Parts: sequence; structure tokens; C-alpha cells
Amino acid sequence: MRIGVLTGGGDCPGLNAVIRAVVRKGTKAYGHEFVGFRDGWRGPIEGETVPLDVQAVRGILPRGGTILGSSRTNPFKVEGGVQRIDENLQRLGVDALVAIGGEDTLGVATKLHERGVHVVGVPKTIDNDLNATDYTFGFDTAVNVAMEAIDRLHTTAESHHRALIVEVMGRHAGWIALHAGMAGGANIILIPEVPFDIEKVCDWVESRFESHYSPIIVVSEGATPAEGSMTLAAGELDAFGHVRLGGIGGVLEKEIEKRTGKEARTTVLGHIQRGGTPTARDRWLATRFGLHAIDAVHDGDWGTMVALRGTDIVRVPLSDATSELKLVDPELYAEAEVFFG
Ligand code: F6P
Repeated sequence: MRIGVLTGGGDCPGLNAVIRAVVRKGTKAYGHEFVGFRDGWRGPIEGETVPLDVQAVRGILPRGGTILGSSRTNPFKVEGGVQRIDENLQRLGVDALVAIGGEDTLGVATKLHERGVHVVGVPKTIDNDLNATDYTFGFDTAVNVAMEAIDRLHTTAESHHRALIVEVMGRHAGWIALHAGMAGGANIILIPEVPFDIEKVCDWVESRFESHYSPIIVVSEGATPAEGSMTLAAGELDAFGHVRLGGIGGVLEKEIEKRTGKEARTTVLGHIQRGGTPTARDRWLATRFGLHAIDAVHDGDWGTMVALRGTDIVRVPLSDATSELKLVDPELYAEAEVFFG
């Protein structure tokens, strides 16, 4: 078989480990051939490819990003996009696709599968918000980056008697904030799933100062205040209709200073959470996903996605991954509240 591989959406550490495992096992165990598509769905639409063989994947396991490039191109929003994909796959002799991506990339893969394209999905995202899998790779690296930042912020916060706010990614899911906040000993964690009360946040800030420590507040970029307590500006939309988030840390900083009279500063971690080398855990998960994805392709198990359940890698329908977002259960969040203030 000749198999196309693509990586779409926001990049994350571990993408190269998947590509490597797919190509290494696909070549050695099954004798398949591969072609890389550039920049997510833009590659199959434009017919833009790169050679992808064992030589091309040497040394890429520890490298962050993706050797194939990525984009948020949505073929269903591009004039003739889907038809061009059909034509290019035929012209290039590509029998099947391995699509490595999050909600948007796999949503497109699901629709293409329904139109008869042979596709197997691999879930990735630092946000860990894909429904049918316990974890996605990239998440562990992002959490470790955020935890290390929190550790560093504790010491400078104490020196200057300031409230320090760390804004982390995660879109509409608070997984990064909750895991990094707990691991880093944050005094307040704010997540999108549980709207926050600014007065309560300020009470926690004050009680922390009263105990002669400086508060560290981890806020997820999608966190919102409880209705009526504060207003936020609306952001722009991308090709999949998602609002561009960010800025809640700065808003909180001003409110905390205004309401408590204490100095507050914000650090926005941004894309640092997505860059650099994957943790061992992410390399392990990404590699196993790649090995199982090529097995699914070899079996002709189209329209499936590999997923982590406990310690097993299983196959689930692609559509399960994107049917709803996997959000933080408020009961899980409540466990962390004992450390607040
Ligand atoms: O989905 C991954 C993610 O990093 C989100 O956490 C974040 O909101 C978004 O992508 C940022 O996207 P971009 O790279 O387009 O700025």
C-alpha cells in the first residue's frame, strides 16, 4: 500500500514520534510505502508532498514540532477542497491516509471517511480534550513546562510579595491548568468548566498574603468569570470557527490590584507549552499510537482512531473522538480546592 501521512492543527511535542513509528513499522513489518503531506489538510488539497521513508524519519524521535508542518486548513471551507483531495490522492497513487490531529483535523477525517476515503486517525493535542482517549500526547510535555514555570514563579513572588498569575493554554478545557497547578502547588486554579467568582479569588489572594506567602494563580485561557461579575472582550475566529483565546490573565491582574491593593503580574506561557522536546511519557504514548495506527491501516480498519484506555491502545470510531469535548469534571476540580487561598 502507498500511505499518506499528515499532521494538522496546533502542533505538539510527540508528532514526530508518531510519524517515525508509523513509517518504521509500516516499512519493516508490512512493506508499505509512505508519502508525507505538507501542512495538514493543505497538503492533500494542493498535492504538496515530501518523501517519507526510514531515512527521512531518522533522528526525529526527540524533536518537537512536526517534520511535515501543520496548518488549520479546513478543506470544507476551501473552494473545491474535498474534490481536490480526491483527485490528488488518486493522481499520487495514495491508497490510505494516517491523519494525526485534534478535534478539527479528526473532524475532517471523519467526514472524508464517510465519503469513502481510507483514513485512520491518531489523536494529538496539548489540551487533552479529545473524548475517546484517556490521554493525548503533547499534554504531559505542556503540563511539565507549566509546572516548571510555576516552580520558578513561587520564588520570585515571595521575594517581591506579589501575586503572580500564570495563564496557560487548553482552550475550553482546564486539564493543563488543573494538572500543572496541582503539581506546582498553585494557590488558586481557574478553569473554563467552573466559572470563577472574582470576589472569592480576591479573598483567597488576601488570605494567602495574610499567611505571609505570595499567591500563585494558574488561569486557563478559557476561564470565565461567573455571569455578571466581570466582562471580557470577544476574540477573532479561525477557519474552524474557534475563538482565539488569551488575555484573561491580564484582566485578572487589573481586577486583583484594584480590589486588593496588592501588586499583581501576569506571565502568559503561550506557545512555549507546545514547543521543544517531548517528555518520555509523550514519546512513549506517541510511539505506541503510531505502531497501532499502522496496524489499523494494514487491517483496512478505516474510519477508526487509536486511543489510550488504561494502559491499552484500542481502536474507536473516529466520530467518537469529536462527538463532544472531554472536559474536567467539577468534582475532580473540587479536589484541588483544599489548597486554595
Ligand atoms: O489546541 C491547542 C492550542 O494550543 C490551544 O491550547 C490554544 O488555544 C490554541 O491551540 C492556540 O492556537 P494557535 O497556535 O493558532 O495560536
